[in-house]
Amino acid sequence: MTITQLSDQSSIPYELLLLADPSREIIDTYIFDSRLFIATAEGETIGCYVLSQVDQATVEIRNIAVREPHQRKGIGKLLLADAIRRSKLEGFQTIVIGTGNSSLGQLYLYQKSGFRISAIRPDFFTQRYKEKIIENGIECRDMIVLSREL
Ligand code: COA
Repeated sequence: MTITQLSDQSSIPYELLLLADPSREIIDTYIFDSRLFIATAEGETIGCYVLSQVDQATVEIRNIAVREPHQRKGIGKLLLADAIRRSKLEGFQTIVIGTGNSSLGQLYLYQKSGFRISAIRPDFFTQRYKEKIIENGIECRDMIVLSREL
């Protein structure tokens, strides 16, 4: 598997990004000011992550996704490790990632990768997304922000 930055804005893999963020309208509010990294194996795009600079010291993973047939094989963990390694090399001090209160697998994965809960943004999802999001039988309402020192 190789992970490279996408340079061609015309080939943004929205179907992949939509796995992590169900609104294309919202994706378009950040994707053009961010960097998109694509994981490729045997010529197929199998995963991606998006990095947005928050301030001089902080970078945020805005979207991380692995194509469904390739999930639960360790690729998400490798994408996170790549984002951490890259951000550290670039001199950032903190990396953050936000997820929903209902995203139990993601909360598990991020904490296993060294992130700690640093903030909660109540009603983040209910205020921004028209459709109700249900995961693991729980309504996704609040954003849980997790941070990791680099
Ligand atoms: N439920 C429970 N555990 C999960 C999980 C889930 N949904 N997703 C991952 N895990 C666990 C794995 O079991 C594994 O645990 P282990 O290290 O103890 O074996 C660990 O997390 C790493 O899993 P990995 O295989 O690297 O994850 P992945 O390749 O499936 O990628 C996502 C994780 C979240 C990127 C992927 O599932 C995905 O694209 N989901 C849809 C989009 C999404 O929700 N993105 C995040 C938005 S915040």
